[in-house]
Amino acid sequence: MVDVQPLDEEVIYDGRPMITETDLRGKIVFMNRKFLEMSGYEKSELIGKPHSIIRHPDMPKEAFCCMWDTIKKGEMWSGFVKNLRKDGKYYWVKVIVEPVKDESQNIKGYCASRKPVTENDKVYASTLFEGLKSGKIKALNMHHELT
Ligand SMILES: Cc1cc2nc3c(=O)[nH]c(=O)nc-3n(C[C@H](O)[C@H](O)[C@H](O)COP(=O)(O)O)c2cc1C
Repeated sequence: MVDVQPLDEEVIYDGRPMITETDLRGKIVFMNRKFLEMSGYEKSELIGKPHSIIRHPDMPKEAFCCMWDTIKKGEMWSGFVKNLRKDGKYYWVKVIVEPVKDESQNIKGYCASRKPVTENDKVYASTLFEGLKSGKIKALNMHHELT
C-alpha cells in the first residue's frame, strides 16, 4: 500500500461528476476522469486496489462500518467523507454509495457518486469524526448527515 503523509492543505472539489465503481469487497473497478484528477493517482495505480487507498487518517472506522452495513443490505448510503490524495492534500465530499444489482436483484458491486459540501458540513463532520476517534461520541447509528 502507498504510504502517503497527510498535509494540512485542502483542495476544493468543484462539483463536476466524480464516480467510482467497486466489486463486492470494495476494490476499484472503474473511476471517471474527475475522480482520477482529484486523487492524484494514475489509473493503473487505482484499478484493482481497495477503495481505502484514499482513506484519510482523520476518518473514523465507525463511519465506514455503518456504510458497509447499509450497502450490504442493498440500501443506499450517503455521508461526508474526507479523502486523502496521493500528494498528501485532502478534499471533502458527500459520498453517495449505491449497490449495483444484476437481473436477479443480487448485489454485484457498488457505485459511488459525489457532491460538494458546504463549510458548515465540514465543521459538522470534522467535529463528529474527532468525537468518534477520541471516544467522546460512542456510536454512529445512522447516515452521518444533516440534510
Ligand atoms: C463504492 C464505494 C466507494 C467508496 N468510496 C470511498 C471514499 O471515497 N473514501 C474512502 O475513504 N473510502 C471509501 N469507500 C470505503 C472503503 O472501501 C473502506 O471501507 C474505507 O476506506 C475504510 O477502510 P478500511 O475498511 O480499510 O478501514 C468506498 C467504498 C465503496 C464500496
